[in-house]
Amino acid sequence: MSEKERNDAKKGENKDKPGHGKRILLRTFGCQMNERDSEFIAGLFLKRGYRLADSPDGADIILFNTCSVREHAEKRAISSMGQLMHKYEDKKIYAVAGCAAQALKEKLFKQLPKLNIVCGTGEIARLPELVKEAPGRRIAALDGIDAPLPESSLSYRTSKNHAYVSIMRGCDNFCSYCIVPYVRGRERSRREGDIINEIRDLVAGGITDITLLGQNVNSYKGIARNDGEGKTCNFVRLLTIINGVEGMEKIRFMTSHPKDANNELFKAVRELDKVVKHLHLPLQSGSDRILRLMNRGYTAEKYLGLAAGARKIVPGLRFTTDIITGFPTEKEKDFEDTLRMMKKIKFDFAYIFKYSPRPGTTAAKLEDDVPEDVKKRNHRALLDLQKEISRRKNEKNCRHSRV
Ligand code: SAH
Ligand code: SF4
Ligand code: F3S
Repeated sequence: MSEKERNDAKKGENKDKPGHGKRILLRTFGCQMNERDSEFIAGLFLKRGYRLADSPDGADIILFNTCSVREHAEKRAISSMGQLMHKYEDKKIYAVAGCAAQALKEKLFKQLPKLNIVCGTGEIARLPELVKEAPGRRIAALDGIDAPLPESSLSYRTSKNHAYVSIMRGCDNFCSYCIVPYVRGRERSRREGDIINEIRDLVAGGITDITLLGQNVNSYKGIARNDGEGKTCNFVRLLTIINGVEGMEKIRFMTSHPKDANNELFKAVRELDKVVKHLHLPLQSGSDRILRLMNRGYTAEKYLGLAAGARKIVPGLRFTTDIITGFPTEKEKDFEDTLRMMKKIKFDFAYIFKYSPRPGTTAAKLEDDVPEDVKKRNHRALLDLQKEISRRKNEKNCRHSRV
């Protein structure tokens, strides 16, 4: 979208286009991949003459791009949508898109009686068309979950100097607790050439910092540019090419999976001058028994080796993680294993979650047998431990920086 088109769209001067200057409130829940999808969706609507609304007052369309990773995320979006439906008497179009739409499907129409559109993760490019058809109807668009993304001809971006770039979609790992493979489909990588072209366009538009996004970026496998023989490009090669794009200053990426992380990646992080020295490597649990039940594909010892290797290879590396507590059958001993790992590794930051059973996943077949008060207590203990570790690290860094 050109600068002029974007400005016209903002001012609502696209009255001859299908959107007729109608206002759309787009709210995003969940991870960075959803944020990027929402920019893509916003770009589609702006191009058709809609305007973006800042509040539900006076908005013609309310569209939520939702998350389903934990029950809480899903409930928050649905109850907030329900409240808006209750509050506003005027005729608005209500739409739920994204992961919770894909997970809950037509059931959402029962939960939200005024809902017009349920749009799955693979159908977001059709949203403007669905909105046009919606008045007085209820439409579910849930196919295409494994479709290639129609990235990224539309260049609407919310930030002037930073941009998210999706390099792949979906996930094949099927960690037993996780709903992502069921709502985002099989893993598919974008072509190397398409990604590089997008990044060149971004840089030409003033972007200097990018974050490459994928559920497991280490397993990126795109078709290499100008290659008729189906050669593939792996993640380290992609990073290396992007590092060479003139005008680019900072490259971040997430998320990495321990089973696919290796010294080749760590060395690339060290060698490539624009790559930010940060690795987010979700541990999930310190107990081998729980890791096995989670289907994570590594042991605590293997993870310790990776953490040590990464820190040795990349001086000053910021090393962060995700942890889940309260997975079915987790006992005090398993929890202590996790505490021990955190003490040993001393992460720079950790996102800590209470296990939430997700319908359709393998773990949901196991009894959610860790009592809520134990989950809460252990969650608190892990947060406190990480806080203490971070505090000590900061103190140490301050002392270093003062001498
Ligand atoms: N693909 C990424 C992140 C996916 S979701 C990865 O594998 O690292 C982000 C985090 O949410 C996960 O790392 C996990 O810690 C957490 N999570 C996923 N499903 C969950 C569930 N059912 N209950 C609690 N936390 C969950
Ligand atoms: Fe979910 Fe595991 Fe895939 Fe991450 S790697 S998205 S936790 S299934
Ligand atoms: Fe992201 Fe939530 Fe979907 S974490 S991939 S928005 S389920």
